[in-house]
Amino acid sequence: MSDRLSTVGDVSRTHVGFRCQDCGATTPKWTGRCGTCSAWNTLVEELRSTTSRTTAAGPAPQPPLLITEIDTSGRSRFSTGEAEVDRVLGGGFVPGSVTLVGGEPGIGKSTLLLQVLAAMSRGGLRVLYISAEESSAQVRLRAERLGALAPTLWLASETVLSHVLSHLDEIVPDVLVVDSIQTIFDPELGSTPGTVGQVRECAARLVDEAKRREITTLLVGHVTKDGNLAGPRVLEHMVDTVLSFEGDRHHALRLLRATKHRFGSTNQLGLFAMAEQGLEAVPDPSKLFLADRCPSIPGSVVVATVDGHRPLLVEVQALVAPSHLPSPRRSAQGLDSGRLALITAVLGRRVGLDLGDHDVHALAVGGVKIVEPAADLAIVLAIASSAHDVPLPEDLVVCGEVGLGGELRQVGQFERRLGEASRLGFRRAVIPHLAPDPPPGIVPIRAATIAEALELLGFDADFDTWSRGGGSACAG
Ligand code: TYD
Ligand code: MG
Repeated sequence: MSDRLSTVGDVSRTHVGFRCQDCGATTPKWTGRCGTCSAWNTLVEELRSTTSRTTAAGPAPQPPLLITEIDTSGRSRFSTGEAEVDRVLGGGFVPGSVTLVGGEPGIGKSTLLLQVLAAMSRGGLRVLYISAEESSAQVRLRAERLGALAPTLWLASETVLSHVLSHLDEIVPDVLVVDSIQTIFDPELGSTPGTVGQVRECAARLVDEAKRREITTLLVGHVTKDGNLAGPRVLEHMVDTVLSFEGDRHHALRLLRATKHRFGSTNQLGLFAMAEQGLEAVPDPSKLFLADRCPSIPGSVVVATVDGHRPLLVEVQALVAPSHLPSPRRSAQGLDSGRLALITAVLGRRVGLDLGDHDVHALAVGGVKIVEPAADLAIVLAIASSAHDVPLPEDLVVCGEVGLGGELRQVGQFERRLGEASRLGFRRAVIPHLAPDPPPGIVPIRAATIAEALELLGFDADFDTWSRGGGSACAG
């Protein structure tokens, strides 16, 4: 069989193979199920135009240079005009770099990028926004609401790759945003828009152009339900930086973080709140999280967490209630459900707090997700406080990991955590016994085990009686 399959106009297409739309693997023959990832009905035929870029001769060879002789001028960063975005990028964009911005639909990617483009335009840059999902009029209306009608911000509603490239010739922008890469397609490739082959080829072409013309390029990518960028990981390998924009739809808080960054650390976190007039920076997140706190309610405690390098004080709440179910509920929101199950088991075995006929609900307040084990001790204390129906001291902050033996373990970036707690007026901290000293102004309450921590806070050592009328913990 000839591998030349079709000719449309004067463009010939070659059969490349069948590509899995889930994992990106190729196979020469169509099968119902991908041999690599076992997904059903995901193989799509891939054609390649023989006149396409991939068949052309590659770039001329570059001689190797001594590392000390390599020219780095022109690689200095420029600010995005949004402090929280600069923080995540380590100061701003590197000219000619390519960044992929991923996030669930509706989380605010287009809003963020429009605001960033407007800020950069006001800073004197020429910026081009390609909207492949919304009309120019829609984008303009949104820009009006966001106060983003900037002088050198061009808009085009375009889905065809070659048209995007011709706009680059015409506008010669410093910064380009393509929203989103999944809706851009190259008709010459033959395959359906949005398929892995299309997304990969279009992204590769835009990356080439970004490097060649030194256009700082941002590609928006939607993520699938399980949190992966649609159009597999292939895109992540092509770009310099991958930013992920996250948040809980029901809360205003939005988090921006770098999951890959060739020009800096991936440990910075940017925080925004979605408001009527778009995204607003949140320079003091701990204050925001603790704003509505009622410390006199049993089952509430503040944990000193860090996300990347950013310290965050978050309220953890627990509610323990008699259960009428054969297997009582364990529900965790913003906390790891596996850790909650583990901690209720440890409480039962190590301090006799048997929750076998009680439901336990635990949550991190404010729409944050705490994945680190440093929140274990907070979950322990919140559950004990709720079970006893006795509130914990208002100026108490806690952090520590809990082991299966009920022992308390140290956590990293201790100074950062407790420094933030001190700044916000906390005066007592329950910490693992070997943890470093907290900053002045915070009295350490050191404990080697959770039993010791509970005892130091005044909870009855004998938890066997807790469900028969509460304990005698002191709240002061
Ligand atoms: P959008 O930027 O379109 O999300 P994405 O590009 O990630 O799909 O933002 C979508 C949501 O943000 C929309 O449902 C409404 C909300 N929003 C506000 O609350 N305030 C605003 O000023 C804007 C522009 C959007
Ligand atoms: Mg959008």
